[in-house]
Amino acid sequence: MDIFEIHGGVPLSGSIATSGSKNSALPALAACLLTEEEVILEGIPRVRDIQTMEKLLAHTGADVIERNGTVSVTARRIERPEAPYEVVKTMRASSLVLGPLAGRTGRARVSMPGGCAIGARPINLHVAGLEHLGAVTHQAHGYIEARAESGLRGAHVKFERITVTGTEDIMMAATLAHGETILENAAREPEVVDLAELLVKMGARIEGAGTSTIRIQGVSRLHGTRHRIIPDRIEAGTFLIAGAITGGDLSVTSCDPAHLEALLASMRAAGVEISVESPAAIRVHPRRGPLRSVDITTEEHPGFPTDLQAQFLALMTQATGISIITENIFENRFMHVPELSRLGANIRIDGRRAMVAGPTPLSGAEVMCSDLRASASLVLAGLVAHGSTVLQRVYHIDRGYESIEKKLAGAGARILRKGEHDGAQRRVFEAGQ
Ligand code: EPU
Repeated sequence: MDIFEIHGGVPLSGSIATSGSKNSALPALAACLLTEEEVILEGIPRVRDIQTMEKLLAHTGADVIERNGTVSVTARRIERPEAPYEVVKTMRASSLVLGPLAGRTGRARVSMPGGCAIGARPINLHVAGLEHLGAVTHQAHGYIEARAESGLRGAHVKFERITVTGTEDIMMAATLAHGETILENAAREPEVVDLAELLVKMGARIEGAGTSTIRIQGVSRLHGTRHRIIPDRIEAGTFLIAGAITGGDLSVTSCDPAHLEALLASMRAAGVEISVESPAAIRVHPRRGPLRSVDITTEEHPGFPTDLQAQFLALMTQATGISIITENIFENRFMHVPELSRLGANIRIDGRRAMVAGPTPLSGAEVMCSDLRASASLVLAGLVAHGSTVLQRVYHIDRGYESIEKKLAGAGARILRKGEHDGAQRRVFEAGQ
């Protein structure tokens, strides 16, 4: 198993380019199941979750060809309208095929996801949405089965609570339903908007994506198209925090500043000087004074994203004062806290709130990755810790960050991956000490 070794203390400089969004690419790939024609998706990040989704599409019978971040999917025939447990247990977003399979074939069989490091993550809202569209569902042997032999029917669906992949799943199902579907209390994330744009290019009739009410007029078939995925706002945000925590001068390019407003506002409140350099570049300037503590509360978009909470919390270990971090989306998303404490951070958890007292000097130690974003926060802490920080189980980070260690090293960070097959890389690093 690979590990990361980080020698902290180097202010990052130069620029880092953002990859395509993992959480946009996943539903986009699932959407390819809605048509028998070829869909070409550009800017697909090469991360583990995407490979898992590609395997899942191939399992259903689709042809999937990947070349340099461009993926072609042709789902001429759906041979197995199902997501087996082996796939779902490694990636919960597999439930994104439920809607497309039910919409296209009138049948879907998807393994129920179990628990996960950040919370229970049920799919009851996806299932309820499909039932509203006329599917009959049945749960047995760890699977949820949905059937709509004579097709789905448009309906009024009001989500009990806001769900990102739930909105995406039901929006996809509704594109091929008979008549009009109205989704109320829909998620407004940029990834939902990107998916709607792809679906419209495929011939779907969708209005209101990006607001909490989405209207879909069902059509009888969708066709092939070409689409470029939006930049990964969470990856971009992670690099901006990397620039700030190291007191560096770093530009994050190929990103969309409009998707990062909540983070930029909190970073500025913490005393980080940030400028939007172009429609696709944000620069963190060298630090002039100490960082200030800021409270954040995670919320659905456009609020502060839960997927940047762990990284911002790492930043707050270096800020003066007490910062209160409230996690509202997932019930167990503080797995990074005990590990940050091993590095010397002073954090107390009380239910959904973490109180971070800073600034605390961090000192390198061995730490364990527990989930994707928690791992990112440990990398950030390692970049500012004295001495060497070793991250175990970096496969968690590989699920959603494309070559994070290479991108950070390109901006001056002393980070390297060690595994069975990297002797050469390690020697280069040691030679550069
Ligand atoms: N929820 C339910 N029932 C459902 C669905 C969700 O109770 O049927 C609850 C969840 O347990 C959670 C809340 O609703 O408490 C919101 O969950 P949501 O459904 O919005 O999350 P998701 O769609 O499963 C996506 C991202 C996550 C991100 C969340 C919140 C993808 C593939 N995943 O998950 O990304 O944290 O939205 O923004 O888009 C990550 O990239 O690290 C990640 C976890």
